[in-house]
Amino acid sequence: SNRTFTMIKPDAMKSGHAGAILDRIIKEGYRIVALKMTRLSETKAGEFYAVHKERPFYGELVEFMSSGPVIAAILEKENAVNSFRTLIGATDPAKADEGTIRKQFAASVGENAVHGSDSDENALIEGDFFFSSLERI
Ligand code: GTP
Ligand code: MG
Repeated sequence: SNRTFTMIKPDAMKSGHAGAILDRIIKEGYRIVALKMTRLSETKAGEFYAVHKERPFYGELVEFMSSGPVIAAILEKENAVNSFRTLIGATDPAKADEGTIRKQFAASVGENAVHGSDSDENALIEGDFFFSSLERI
């Protein structure tokens, strides 16, 4: 597929990096299909990351993701899921390559600035979680 889903996480919103991150995404050639600022309740954050519910960091992750606003977006580019995961870099910013968004803007493995879908199937599910069909331009 040519679409992926991303979120600018609460740490990057709070530290004032949302504009720079969106600018980088646009300059890398992604077309914005849908975009909104919103805030996840603990319940919604728990649903979004339900795949991780048995992991030791799940509680911390849900608390963090519901701690402030996020920007959610659907992005379009050839090979979107894989190219976007390359652009954001490793989950742990200490292990992220030079030039990646997480290397530049993330503070820690938990508070790592951005989300990127890990498969075409999840990109669709995650996009549907935030956006109605009328919100996709
Ligand atoms: P996402 O794009 O957010 O899904 O990140 P990812 O695909 O690179 O990582 P993964 O799906 O494995 O983990 C989801 C999120 O859980 C990460 O982005 C982190 O925010 C958080 N997380 C992962 N591992 C840890 C950890 O060891 N400690 C804490 N506190 N959070 C973690
Ligand atoms: Mg993931």
